[in-house]
Amino acid sequence: MGTVPAPVAADPPGPHLAGAVHEGTQAKVITVFSTKGGAGTSVVASNVAVLLAQRSQKPVVLVDADLQFGDIAVMLKLSPQHTIVDALNSLERLDAGLLQSLLAEHRPSGLFVLPAPPEPAFADQIGRPEMSKIIAALKSFAAYVVVDTPAYFTDVVLGLIEDSDDVLLVTGMDIPNVKNVKIGLQTLRLLNIRTPRVHLVLNRANSKVRLDASEVEQTLQVKAEAQLPSEIAVPQSINKGMPVVMDAPRSGITKALQRLAGLLVAEDACSQTP
Ligand SMILES: Nc1ncnc2c1ncn2[C@@H]1O[C@H](COP(=O)(O)OP(=O)(O)OP(=O)(O)O)[C@@H](O)[C@H]1O
Ligand SMILES: [Mg+2]
Repeated sequence: MGTVPAPVAADPPGPHLAGAVHEGTQAKVITVFSTKGGAGTSVVASNVAVLLAQRSQKPVVLVDADLQFGDIAVMLKLSPQHTIVDALNSLERLDAGLLQSLLAEHRPSGLFVLPAPPEPAFADQIGRPEMSKIIAALKSFAAYVVVDTPAYFTDVVLGLIEDSDDVLLVTGMDIPNVKNVKIGLQTLRLLNIRTPRVHLVLNRANSKVRLDASEVEQTLQVKAEAQLPSEIAVPQSINKGMPVVMDAPRSGITKALQRLAGLLVAEDACSQTP
């Protein structure tokens, strides 16, 4: 990736980055995680981030922390000039202004994105302290920092979970998915990871797979806070490079994702009430 430019004042249609640096409150960090690949983590992360960006006056940033095979840039049809590797290379002088100059803007929604490295080989260079520093700098000017992650525990992922206010735990409706979520929750407890608020998100919850939402809830002893239907609009939107909440605004999946984003915002409002 190229050298890091001097911070530039962005000119987005939505929330402006310029002047967003010293506005007081810190962003809420929402990490989206799954214990099984392909469960729908990136779909949930990108669409929840877009919905939050549409509602927020302050910037919302989506971080692609799937450091080997991050998909966010292609899902949102972005051609980023910079990636998280540039943030890493400037870590010693990383501040809000510099970090802002590295973000790619998703113009249709006003969301800002910190893309994954261009090649998997860079992934090893980013450890837990580096990621933590990047998230801290983002928190200083954003309203929400949404983080997409790979479907396995690494030191970086465990650090992100600890640094989060909320975790969206995405699971599919089959036995291996549910088994892995159970093990994942046990592992977090065993490792003494400070677990933030965990919200269980059942994806493809309407699939006729002889396993229903209440059985999953019972097995995991956790209530599902969102149930997202399986809809063809999802892969169609991905192949257009559009978030489904913008491409199919009246679809069932959009309504379910709006409810989920609404829940996160409402919870935020509650926690700020003295
Ligand atoms: N609710 C849904 N309805 C229909 N298709 C879906 C739904 N959710 C996800 N998909 C499809 O499942 C595939 C995987 O989704 P996604 O990339 O979000 O998963 P992931 O958990 O991020 O996977 P990975 O482990 O590769 O990062 C995509 O092709 C997407 O179109
Ligand atoms: Mg993914």
